[in-house]
Amino acid sequence: MVGVVGAGQLARMMQQAAIGLGVPLRLLAEARDSSAGHVITDTTVGDYTDYDTLSTWAKGNTVVTFDHEHVSTAHLESLVADGVIVRPAPGALVHAQDKVVMRARLSSLGVPGPRHAVVEAADGVAAFASTVGGFPVVLKTARGGYDGKGVFVVDDEAGAVGVLASTPDAVAVLAEEKVGFRRELAVLVARAPSGQLAAYPVVESVQRQGICVEVTAPAPDLDPDLAVEAQGIAMRVAAELGVTGLLAVELFETTDGRVLVNELAMRPHNTGHWSIDGAVTSQFENHLRAVLDLPLGDPTPRVRWSVMVNILGGDAPTLYDGFPHVQARDPQIRVHLYGKQVEPGRKVGHVTAYGDNLAEVRERARHAAAWFEGT
Ligand SMILES: Nc1ncnc2c1ncn2[C@@H]1O[C@H](COP(=O)(O)OP(=O)(O)OP(=O)(O)O)[C@@H](O)[C@H]1O
Ligand SMILES: [Mg+2]
Repeated sequence: MVGVVGAGQLARMMQQAAIGLGVPLRLLAEARDSSAGHVITDTTVGDYTDYDTLSTWAKGNTVVTFDHEHVSTAHLESLVADGVIVRPAPGALVHAQDKVVMRARLSSLGVPGPRHAVVEAADGVAAFASTVGGFPVVLKTARGGYDGKGVFVVDDEAGAVGVLASTPDAVAVLAEEKVGFRRELAVLVARAPSGQLAAYPVVESVQRQGICVEVTAPAPDLDPDLAVEAQGIAMRVAAELGVTGLLAVELFETTDGRVLVNELAMRPHNTGHWSIDGAVTSQFENHLRAVLDLPLGDPTPRVRWSVMVNILGGDAPTLYDGFPHVQARDPQIRVHLYGKQVEPGRKVGHVTAYGDNLAEVRERARHAAAWFEGT
């Protein structure tokens, strides 16, 4: 029994992998009417922030894992003290929950990242800016951010005043140099408790307004030395932090040809959705294998190029009207809908196209996603 906290699309797609593995999932969902609640029969509806609810549910599982990173570290530590197996363990997961903890640890490991400082007031932001060549700088809340929420680019001290006033006092704020990047990359590795690692190829990801919208696997025209370095960083971080399950390392490829770590996630990740259709073993299957301490599956691509494009809520009130056109135009397109209510800008599905000609593959994936969105 693998218990999954959180009922979004990641838990939903874990269920798809669980079917083949014959592994039953148990869900702790915020609502029955949720992306994963629709497909996992053993669903408990409850509030994961309430310790009694979490603990009563958790004790019925062989291992507990996650769809999101919002369960409090203290609660997870209490579960572990109570004998529940949590993967990734709270001591590893905290590095994906708290950007201040993550930066401190990666710096101590010598892993390359943007210059940064914890800031308490606007004059502290200005002092930091002066050490990195001036504004603009990026401010990030240490905890609670996702899809770009909690990330602010500030152009001057007045901008910093506004951001700091809008963040709760209890949450630390991190200032980072604004990295001039050529593009964003990501590496996913699965790590089993035995220490076995499986590394997916480095991919290129495009974010719009902080939301991942398109992923190309593998990253085109990437210097092979940089690819090896990026995979090496991910494998080393997974081992040093003792990650069990998937680790996603989001990276910047700088204009001067370096890679810097942006942040970490410890669960299946949007930049790995292509692997369902494009790799021998999907990220969802390898996450389940890893948390169950089973031998990992082969992460190698089965195709030359995979391009994944997210379907965001748009003008079309339902996605199903788009099906006949998309399917008729491109019988090879792979469609994954998340069973979520369509709301503007919300991730409601993704498509993956694959083939030998990257320009064509991209065009097919973009066209299909745009059609579903009604644009
Ligand atoms: N130091 C930086 N310099 C330049 N751009 C940055 C920097 N930090 C973040 N960004 C941009 O903002 C995006 C969101 O930042 P980050 O990944 O830290 O936030 P998040 O909300 O936790 O993300 P996610 O959606 O992955 O959970 C990045 O993908 C990148 O495009
Ligand atoms: Mg991110």
